[in-house]
Amino acid sequence: MKADPAPVPKILVLASGSGTNLQALIEATRERNFPGELIAVGCNKPGAFALERAAQANIKTFVVDHTRYGSREEFDAALLAEIMRHSPDVVVLAGFMRILTRDFVRAFRGRMLNIHPSLLPAYTGLNTHQRVLDAGDRTHGVSIHFVTEELDGGPVIAQAEVTVEEADTPESLAEKVQRQEHILYPIVVRWFCEGRVQLGSEGVLFDGEPIKNPMRLPAN
Ligand code: GRF
Repeated sequence: MKADPAPVPKILVLASGSGTNLQALIEATRERNFPGELIAVGCNKPGAFALERAAQANIKTFVVDHTRYGSREEFDAALLAEIMRHSPDVVVLAGFMRILTRDFVRAFRGRMLNIHPSLLPAYTGLNTHQRVLDAGDRTHGVSIHFVTEELDGGPVIAQAEVTVEEADTPESLAEKVQRQEHILYPIVVRWFCEGRVQLGSEGVLFDGEPIKNPMRLPAN
Protein backbone atom coordinates (compact mmCIF):
# COMPACT_ATOMS: atom_id res chain seq x y z
CA MET A 1 0.00 0.00 0.00
CA LYS A 2 1.20 3.51 -0.83
CA ALA A 3 1.85 5.86 2.10
CA ASP A 4 -0.40 8.91 2.27
CA PRO A 5 1.28 11.95 0.76
CA ALA A 6 2.69 14.40 3.31
CA PRO A 7 0.12 17.08 4.21
CA VAL A 8 0.71 20.38 2.43
CA PRO A 9 0.26 23.79 4.11
CA LYS A 10 -3.31 25.04 4.21
CA ILE A 11 -3.86 28.45 2.64
CA LEU A 12 -6.77 30.71 3.57
CA VAL A 13 -7.36 33.82 1.46
CA LEU A 14 -9.14 36.96 2.69
CA ALA A 15 -10.53 39.29 0.02
CA SER A 16 -12.98 42.17 -0.21
CA GLY A 17 -13.42 42.86 -3.89
CA SER A 18 -13.25 41.43 -7.34
CA GLY A 19 -10.65 38.84 -6.41
CA THR A 20 -8.36 38.81 -9.42
CA ASN A 21 -5.45 37.94 -7.14
CA LEU A 22 -7.57 35.22 -5.59
CA GLN A 23 -8.18 33.89 -9.11
CA ALA A 24 -4.44 33.79 -9.80
CA LEU A 25 -3.95 31.87 -6.54
CA ILE A 26 -6.79 29.46 -7.34
CA GLU A 27 -5.18 28.68 -10.69
CA ALA A 28 -1.69 28.34 -9.27
CA THR A 29 -2.71 26.08 -6.39
CA ARG A 30 -4.56 23.80 -8.79
CA GLU A 31 -1.38 23.06 -10.67
CA ARG A 32 0.07 19.63 -10.10
CA ASN A 33 2.56 19.57 -7.27
CA PHE A 34 1.73 23.02 -5.92
CA PRO A 35 3.06 22.76 -2.36
CA GLY A 36 -0.06 24.13 -0.66
CA GLU A 37 -3.84 23.78 -0.67
CA LEU A 38 -6.26 26.71 -0.88
CA ILE A 39 -8.83 25.56 1.66
CA ALA A 40 -11.08 28.56 2.24
CA VAL A 41 -11.86 32.14 1.26
CA GLY A 42 -13.17 34.70 3.72
CA CYS A 43 -14.71 38.03 2.85
CA ASN A 44 -16.04 41.05 4.71
CA LYS A 45 -18.44 42.04 1.93
CA PRO A 46 -21.48 39.92 1.11
CA GLY A 47 -21.82 39.79 -2.67
CA ALA A 48 -18.15 40.44 -3.46
CA PHE A 49 -17.13 38.78 -6.71
CA ALA A 50 -14.26 37.03 -4.90
CA LEU A 51 -16.90 34.82 -3.23
CA GLU A 52 -18.29 33.86 -6.62
CA ARG A 53 -14.82 32.95 -7.87
CA ALA A 54 -14.24 30.73 -4.82
CA ALA A 55 -17.64 29.06 -5.20
CA GLN A 56 -16.91 28.37 -8.89
CA ALA A 57 -13.71 26.67 -7.81
CA ASN A 58 -15.52 24.62 -5.12
CA ILE A 59 -13.62 26.33 -2.33
CA LYS A 60 -15.35 26.90 1.00
CA THR A 61 -16.28 30.50 1.74
CA PHE A 62 -17.37 32.52 4.71
CA VAL A 63 -18.50 36.10 5.17
CA VAL A 64 -17.93 38.25 8.24
CA ASP A 65 -19.72 41.48 7.38
CA HIS A 66 -17.88 44.32 9.12
CA THR A 67 -20.97 46.56 9.06
CA ARG A 68 -22.63 44.23 11.56
CA TYR A 69 -20.04 44.80 14.29
CA GLY A 70 -19.83 47.76 16.62
CA SER A 71 -16.05 47.90 16.82
CA ARG A 72 -12.92 46.74 15.07
CA GLU A 73 -12.19 44.44 18.01
CA GLU A 74 -15.57 42.68 17.75
CA PHE A 75 -15.20 42.29 14.00
CA ASP A 76 -11.68 40.90 14.32
CA ALA A 77 -12.76 38.46 17.04
CA ALA A 78 -15.53 37.13 14.78
CA LEU A 79 -13.18 36.95 11.81
CA LEU A 80 -10.55 35.15 13.86
CA ALA A 81 -13.11 32.59 15.06
CA GLU A 82 -14.17 31.85 11.46
CA ILE A 83 -10.57 31.57 10.31
CA MET A 84 -9.66 29.22 13.16
CA ARG A 85 -12.41 26.79 12.12
CA HIS A 86 -10.26 26.09 9.05
CA SER A 87 -6.93 25.98 10.96
CA PRO A 88 -4.89 27.47 8.11
CA ASP A 89 -1.10 27.51 8.05
CA VAL A 90 -1.01 30.79 6.20
CA VAL A 91 -3.47 33.67 5.77
CA VAL A 92 -3.12 35.47 2.45
CA LEU A 93 -4.65 38.94 2.21
CA ALA A 94 -5.66 39.58 -1.39
CA GLY A 95 -7.30 42.97 -1.60
CA PHE A 96 -8.72 42.66 1.93
CA MET A 97 -9.73 46.23 2.67
CA ARG A 98 -9.89 46.20 6.47
CA ILE A 99 -7.28 47.36 8.93
CA LEU A 100 -6.68 44.54 11.38
CA THR A 101 -6.17 44.94 15.13
CA ARG A 102 -2.84 44.30 16.79
CA ASP A 103 -4.04 41.12 18.50
CA PHE A 104 -5.28 39.71 15.21
CA VAL A 105 -2.01 40.48 13.48
CA ARG A 106 -0.04 38.95 16.35
CA ALA A 107 -2.05 35.75 16.14
CA PHE A 108 -0.62 35.22 12.65
CA ARG A 109 2.86 36.63 13.03
CA GLY A 110 5.02 35.18 10.29
CA ARG A 111 2.00 33.44 8.78
CA MET A 112 0.11 36.32 7.15
CA LEU A 113 0.99 37.90 3.80
CA ASN A 114 -0.35 41.02 2.09
CA ILE A 115 -0.06 42.49 -1.38
CA HIS A 116 0.24 46.24 -1.78
CA PRO A 117 0.22 48.18 -5.07
CA SER A 118 3.43 50.19 -4.66
CA LEU A 119 7.14 49.70 -4.21
CA LEU A 120 7.12 49.85 -0.43
CA PRO A 121 8.17 51.66 1.66
CA ALA A 122 6.97 54.25 -0.88
CA TYR A 123 3.23 54.96 -0.94
CA THR A 124 1.64 53.09 1.91
CA GLY A 125 -2.13 53.53 2.09
CA LEU A 126 -4.62 54.19 -0.71
CA ASN A 127 -4.63 55.75 -4.22
CA THR A 128 -1.09 54.68 -4.94
CA HIS A 129 -1.36 54.93 -8.74
CA GLN A 130 -2.54 58.54 -8.68
CA ARG A 131 0.13 59.47 -6.14
CA VAL A 132 2.87 57.92 -8.28
CA LEU A 133 1.67 59.96 -11.28
CA ASP A 134 1.41 63.16 -9.22
CA ALA A 135 5.00 62.69 -8.05
CA GLY A 136 6.26 62.13 -11.61
CA ASP A 137 7.86 58.80 -10.71
CA ARG A 138 9.23 56.71 -13.57
CA THR A 139 8.88 53.38 -11.82
CA HIS A 140 6.07 51.87 -9.81
CA GLY A 141 5.10 48.36 -8.85
CA VAL A 142 3.83 45.91 -6.31
CA SER A 143 5.12 44.57 -3.01
CA ILE A 144 4.32 41.43 -1.06
CA HIS A 145 5.10 41.63 2.62
CA PHE A 146 4.60 39.92 5.94
CA VAL A 147 1.85 41.60 7.89
CA THR A 148 2.96 43.22 11.12
CA GLU A 149 1.32 45.79 13.36
CA GLU A 150 2.47 48.65 11.14
CA LEU A 151 0.05 49.34 8.26
CA ASP A 152 1.72 48.30 4.96
CA GLY A 153 4.94 48.34 6.98
CA GLY A 154 5.88 44.68 7.47
CA PRO A 155 9.09 43.23 6.02
CA VAL A 156 8.88 43.09 2.22
CA ILE A 157 9.46 39.68 0.66
CA ALA A 158 9.30 40.46 -3.04
CA GLN A 159 8.56 43.24 -5.49
CA ALA A 160 7.86 43.59 -9.19
CA GLU A 161 8.41 46.85 -11.02
CA VAL A 162 6.50 48.48 -13.83
CA THR A 163 7.68 51.41 -15.92
CA VAL A 164 5.54 54.54 -15.78
CA GLU A 165 5.01 55.98 -19.26
CA GLU A 166 4.10 59.55 -20.16
CA ALA A 167 0.61 58.47 -21.26
CA ASP A 168 -0.21 56.42 -18.17
CA THR A 169 -3.35 57.08 -16.19
CA PRO A 170 -4.28 55.66 -12.76
CA GLU A 171 -6.32 53.04 -14.62
CA SER A 172 -3.55 51.99 -17.00
CA LEU A 173 -1.08 51.84 -14.13
CA ALA A 174 -3.50 49.75 -12.10
CA GLU A 175 -3.71 47.30 -14.99
CA LYS A 176 0.06 47.08 -15.39
CA VAL A 177 0.55 46.60 -11.67
CA GLN A 178 -2.17 43.96 -11.45
CA ARG A 179 -0.57 41.94 -14.24
CA GLN A 180 2.55 41.77 -12.10
CA GLU A 181 0.52 41.00 -8.96
CA HIS A 182 -0.98 37.94 -10.60
CA ILE A 183 2.49 36.63 -11.43
CA LEU A 184 4.19 37.54 -8.17
CA TYR A 185 1.66 36.46 -5.53
CA PRO A 186 1.55 32.79 -6.57
CA ILE A 187 5.36 32.72 -6.63
CA VAL A 188 5.64 34.10 -3.11
CA VAL A 189 2.88 31.86 -1.73
CA ARG A 190 4.70 28.90 -3.27
CA TRP A 191 7.96 29.98 -1.59
CA PHE A 192 6.14 30.30 1.72
CA CYS A 193 4.56 26.85 1.41
CA GLU A 194 7.93 25.35 0.53
CA GLY A 195 9.39 26.92 3.67
CA ARG A 196 11.80 29.01 1.60
CA VAL A 197 10.46 32.30 2.92
CA GLN A 198 10.15 32.94 6.64
CA LEU A 199 9.86 35.89 8.96
CA GLY A 200 12.95 36.03 11.17
CA SER A 201 13.50 38.29 14.18
CA GLU A 202 15.24 40.90 11.99
CA GLY A 203 13.26 40.56 8.80
CA VAL A 204 12.70 38.22 5.89
CA LEU A 205 14.71 35.02 5.57
CA PHE A 206 15.06 33.40 2.16
CA ASP A 207 16.38 29.83 2.24
CA GLY A 208 17.35 30.53 5.84
CA GLU A 209 19.42 33.65 5.05
CA PRO A 210 18.39 37.24 5.82
CA ILE A 211 17.72 39.25 2.66
CA LYS A 212 18.94 42.85 2.47
CA ASN A 213 16.53 43.82 -0.30
CA PRO A 214 13.24 42.35 -1.46
CA MET A 215 13.38 39.66 -4.13
CA ARG A 216 12.66 41.33 -7.50
CA LEU A 217 10.95 40.44 -10.73
CA PRO A 218 12.50 42.42 -13.58
CA ALA A 219 10.77 45.57 -14.89
CA ASN A 220 7.98 45.13 -17.42
C1 GRF B 1 -4.83 44.74 -5.62
O1 GRF B 1 -4.45 45.73 -6.51
C2 GRF B 1 -3.95 44.74 -4.41
O2 GRF B 1 -2.67 45.26 -4.63
C3 GRF B 1 -4.67 45.63 -3.45
O3 GRF B 1 -6.05 45.41 -3.71
C4 GRF B 1 -6.21 44.99 -5.06
C5 GRF B 1 -7.05 43.75 -5.05
O4 GRF B 1 -7.52 43.42 -6.32
N1 GRF B 1 -4.29 45.32 -2.10
P1 GRF B 1 -8.28 42.04 -6.56
O5 GRF B 1 -9.51 42.00 -5.67
O6 GRF B 1 -7.33 40.92 -6.26
O7 GRF B 1 -8.67 42.08 -8.01
